Amino acid sequence: MYKARISGVGHYVPPKVVSNEDLSKLMDTSNEWIIERTGIQERRFADPKTDTTSVMGSKAAKVALERAGIEASDLDFIIFATLSPDYYFPGPGVMVQEQLGIPEIGALDVRNQCSGFVYSLSVADQFIRSGMYQRILVIGSELHSGGLDFTTRGRNVSVIFGDGAGAAIVERAPEGHSGILSTHLHSEGKHAKELALIEPSTSHWVDRLIEEGGSDDPAYHPYMNGNFVFKHAVTRFQEVIYEALKHNGKEASDIDLLIPHQANLRISQFIQGKMKLRDDQVMNNIMRYGNTTAASIPIAWSEAWEEGRLKEGDLICLAAFGSGFTWASALLYW
Ligand code: UT7
Repeated sequence: MYKARISGVGHYVPPKVVSNEDLSKLMDTSNEWIIERTGIQERRFADPKTDTTSVMGSKAAKVALERAGIEASDLDFIIFATLSPDYYFPGPGVMVQEQLGIPEIGALDVRNQCSGFVYSLSVADQFIRSGMYQRILVIGSELHSGGLDFTTRGRNVSVIFGDGAGAAIVERAPEGHSGILSTHLHSEGKHAKELALIEPSTSHWVDRLIEEGGSDDPAYHPYMNGNFVFKHAVTRFQEVIYEALKHNGKEASDIDLLIPHQANLRISQFIQGKMKLRDDQVMNNIMRYGNTTAASIPIAWSEAWEEGRLKEGDLICLAAFGSGFTWASALLYW
């Protein structure tokens, strides 16, 4: 059996910075409320004329490819995680194949929201372990800003989310490299509607949207039962991190860097406190980008690399929780 390792991570965020002050001009909110409840100071919003979900993904992929020291033509497979695809179908994986000018390799789209990147990494890991592929591009990218409700009605959701993309190159590990140790995936569909964008969908097509008076219907914007999601998040994050540690005979103190999905700074700080981790053991960048869903872990990972926080042989733990509910973790050596 082969092992997989990450040979490069990269990210791209659109240039437009949107501050909490900017949002407070659109709805009844304040810089103080957003910072106190979420830790977010600013986020990026994409211009969809130049930066679609797939285009941002391709930009992040180019950075990851360069850092891995390989060409797009060296890739065997693409996995793209998003909840905000360019089109209802086809998914953005095939668009990356076209945009990067990659030969006709397979492209898989993953729909697991905030856990999408870790789920994708797990799929890539299995393909490499089995020997089917040697070099896989994994992307998480989101363009949330086009679909948020920027009235006071939508404020508990719209102040949180931001746009951006991250990517990783997952390669067959050289002999002796431990690479990805394990991944752990979970879901609980009974809570599907607690954090969801319900319409338009196969149960409610766009013609009915027009009949019913357009996008003023709250069902056409993401909904989140914030407190309920928060309580589940703090439990599931810890559970799935400890599951990964136990599976590999490790302790929390063995983690060199925990890269949690950037859902809310209070969630990350709560987990850090419970697990007794030092500040240097946890990566947080939600302050600058908000919650970028499937993109948040690879963006944070890429920034951690840029900041020199990763050394060869470091033990990295990834963990995510979100809509579905889905939650997941990965433990790996850098
Ligand atoms: O990434 C996927 C997973 N996502 C998460 O894990 C997110 C989990 N949830 C959260 O992060 C938090 O629940 C939120 C940040 C969404 C909300 O924070 P909260 O502390 O749970 O606030 P709340 O929803 O309980 O609302 C408290 C008050 C309410 O007013 P009243 O009823 O007390 O008068 C809200 O209407 O804050 C009000 N509120 C706001 N006020 C100013 C809600 N959103 C805002 C806002 N600005 N943006």
